[in-house]
This record gives sequence, structure tokens and C-alpha cells, in this order.
Amino acid sequence: MKIAVIGVGYVGLVAGACFASFNMDVICIDQDAQKIDNLKRNIIPIYEPGLEEMVVRASKRGNLKFSTSLMDVNDAEVIIIAVGTPSLPTGEANLSYLMKAIRDVANVATGYKSLVIKSTVPIGTASLVRNELAAIGVADRFDVISNPEFLREGVAVYDFLKPDRIVIGANSQRARKIAEALYQPLTSQDVPILITDNPTAETIKYASNAYLAMRVAYINQIADLCEAAGATIDEVAKGMGLDKRIGGHYLHAGPGYGGSCFPKDTKAISYIAKEKNVDLSIVEAVITANDARKQKLVERIINVFNKYGCKKIAILGATFKAETDDMRDSASLIIVPALLKAGFEVRCYDPANPKDAHELLGVALQSSMKDALEGVDAALIITEWPEFQLFGLDQLVAKLNKKVLFDLRNLFAIEDIKRADINYYSIGRPDA
Ligand SMILES: NC(=O)c1ccc[n+]([C@@H]2O[C@H](COP(=O)([O-])OP(=O)(O)OC[C@H]3O[C@@H](n4cnc5c(N)ncnc54)[C@H](O)[C@@H]3O)[C@@H](O)[C@H]2O)c1
Repeated sequence: MKIAVIGVGYVGLVAGACFASFNMDVICIDQDAQKIDNLKRNIIPIYEPGLEEMVVRASKRGNLKFSTSLMDVNDAEVIIIAVGTPSLPTGEANLSYLMKAIRDVANVATGYKSLVIKSTVPIGTASLVRNELAAIGVADRFDVISNPEFLREGVAVYDFLKPDRIVIGANSQRARKIAEALYQPLTSQDVPILITDNPTAETIKYASNAYLAMRVAYINQIADLCEAAGATIDEVAKGMGLDKRIGGHYLHAGPGYGGSCFPKDTKAISYIAKEKNVDLSIVEAVITANDARKQKLVERIINVFNKYGCKKIAILGATFKAETDDMRDSASLIIVPALLKAGFEVRCYDPANPKDAHELLGVALQSSMKDALEGVDAALIITEWPEFQLFGLDQLVAKLNKKVLFDLRNLFAIEDIKRADINYYSIGRPDA
């Protein structure tokens, strides 16, 4: 099968490399000429474990190619759209990148094509796309397939190759058959495939992400309760998660969810519900709780640092979670500027060295954890990178002049903390 992927970001590049690993012929197309030029030279634009090896291998084999030209879609039968759908100020998903890609494809493609929408899009987008194709006069040459993506950054290759399920929305037999052929390498390994209509597939994606965001917001509020009531969130979450009806995923208390999906997808589903006059106040409460959490944490962090007279702070982690270089909606974007504004000197380090960190945070990144800890009074862990734990608690404490550690990810066990000479603050646990 010959595939074109439009939009070579976290989703498009992973999807392209994985389809190529199934021996399909893949051309990845992006309007960002610098990105494509780098990819042609095996320079991978994102930090994603295992991706570089896959891209290099498939490129060498000759079945993964990169281009800036949409004319190249004509070599493919299946065109996967994986462009961004960021939030507009209203919370609505911005479909301008997607609709532009669709119009451009409609204008250059010859012969029959299947358009597979992998971007996360509002319910009703597939029919919007069909209307657009009809307006251009090419609707009969395209099938529009909804195929939401559920991969997680940091384990994206694994998630793509071993998904819990594949969701397809289609409105013709031909589209269904093509979607089945596209995913045959996975369904032949017993990955479940759910084929439904387009609006249902589109809804599954938003409903799933809003539900996961709700679990995070919920456990964070339970962590607040633990702090007030003298309970320990890690054990509460474990005790809840052992219940098979609940399960342990997405029950890690922390600074609130971030990243490129949960914040924008909760806002988008909430916008859709309002538009359709449906009460989705649960999701609205999740959004409010998550936003408020980051602000409240800023106050708490500043109070603790002031209490001990800390002036110079090491910030450990800038990305929204470990094993990615993605800083979109990371807690660091709220916390670091607030610390700078409050007059603290900060020395920031992130193992993924995200390229836009300096611009986004207002401070340059240090090149190592050791450098970030040089001469500081206290440290603040924002991201759960294993490197911070592996550095060793005693070594970390030894670097902190005022022996203050604020750990937003509960990386250290309370028993270890009790043995160390440290003023330790974490989430939903007794301060030590
Ligand atoms: N990042 C994730 O973890 C994740 C997971 C599941 C679903 N999604 C969804 O997948 C979509 C893509 O997300 P992402 O994180 O990969 O985005 P991204 O910002 O990393 O990449 C998008 C790419 O699309 C390119 N692009 C935009 N318009 C284009 C056009 N007209 N022609 C060619 N290229 C174009 C951009 O240059 C960019 O390289 C979004 O809808 C997102 O919600 C993302």
C-alpha cells in the first residue's frame, strides 16, 4: 500500500515511520521546509524514544521519504492528515490547517484517494470535509475516513505498534475495506478494530481524552484532600487502582495535566457541547480545576521558598511529562515565569533540551543537572524524568544550600526522605 502523510509532527512522523516498518511505501509531507530538509538527512525534529532508529532504517530501505510538495500525494492511494488542531481563544479547535491541507490535496490529487483524518477534530469534521470536497467538485473521487490517534508522547512508537484499539469512522464499504487493509498488519496481531460512522469515531477521541483528563484532575483534588487530612496520595491512588473497576492508570497526582492534547481536547469538547446545548459541566469543572491547580501551586511553592529564604532555585524539568521534548501547556510555563516575576533566580535543566525552552520560559537551559544545581538554595522538580531520581537523593540534597526540595511528581519515597537531612515538599503527602 502507498501512503502519504501530511503533517510530520509527533503523530505524523510516528505514523509514517510505523507504516513504513510494515513495508508500506510512505511519503511524509510537511510545509516546514527546514524540518523536511533535516529529515532527509536523518535529523529527527522531536525527542521520541525509538523513533530515530525506525526513521533511519526505513529511509535506508527506501520506503520512507520526505517532501514539501503536495504533488507527491499522487503516488499514494491513502492520504493521512496529521496536521495540528490547536485551540482558538474560544476553546474551539482551529481547523484552518486541516481545511487548508484538504483544499490543497483536492486541487492537486488525480484519481481516487482515501483521506484519513488522524488529527483530533471536532465531531462533524468528516462531513465538513466532504462538503468542502463537494464545493471543489471532487467529492466522488474521495472517501473520508476518521481515524483518531491515541498514542502517548514518550511511548508513541510502542503505542502505535501495540494500540489498545484502532478506531475507524467511515460511511462507505470501500472506505471500510481500505481502512482494514491499512491496519491489517496490526489487526493480524489481534489488535481490535472498531469500525463505526464518522461522528462516532470523532466523539470517541474527545470522550476518551476528556475522561483521562478527568481522572488526573480528580486524583489531584484527592491529593489536596490528603494534604488537608493527613493521608498519603500515593497509597490512596494505589488502593483505588487495585480495584479492577478503576485501574491504576492516570491516577498520579502532580502539577495538573498539560501537553498538546488534554488541555485543548477538553476545551474543544466543552465548546462543542455548549454549541449543541448539551450539559457537559463535568468537563468544564475539570478544566477549571486543572487551571486553578497550577496557580495555587505557584503560591504554595513561593511561600515555601520564601519561608526558608531561598533566592536561587534549580528547576528540574521543563517538558509537560518525561520522555518528550514537548512543552505545550507544561506546568513549567506557568511556574517558571511566576518565579522569575517574584524575583527568584532560576537555573533550569531538562534532559530533552527542548529547543524553544529559552524563549518560552524566559531563561536559558543549563546543559546538565549538575550545572543547574550549581550554587542553588533549593530545587523544584516539575517533570518526572528518571534522571532526577537516578542522580541520588543524598547527592541532590548536598547541592542545596538551604536543603529545600519541592517535588511536584513525588519522585522520592517518604522513607528515604525521612532518612535525609532535607525540607521536603511534595504532592498529597505529609511534608517532611
Ligand atoms: N501529540 C500527541 O501526542 C497527539 C496524540 C494523539 C493525537 N494528536 C493529534 O494529532 C494532530 C497532530 O498533532 P501533533 O502533536 O503531531 O502536531 P505537530 O504540531 O507536532 O505537527 C503538525 C505538523 O503539521 C504541519 N502542517 C500544518 N499544516 C500543514 C499543511 N497544510 N501541509 C503540510 N503540513 C502542515 C506542521 O508544519 C507540523 O509539522 C493534532 O490534531 C493532535 O491533537 C496528537
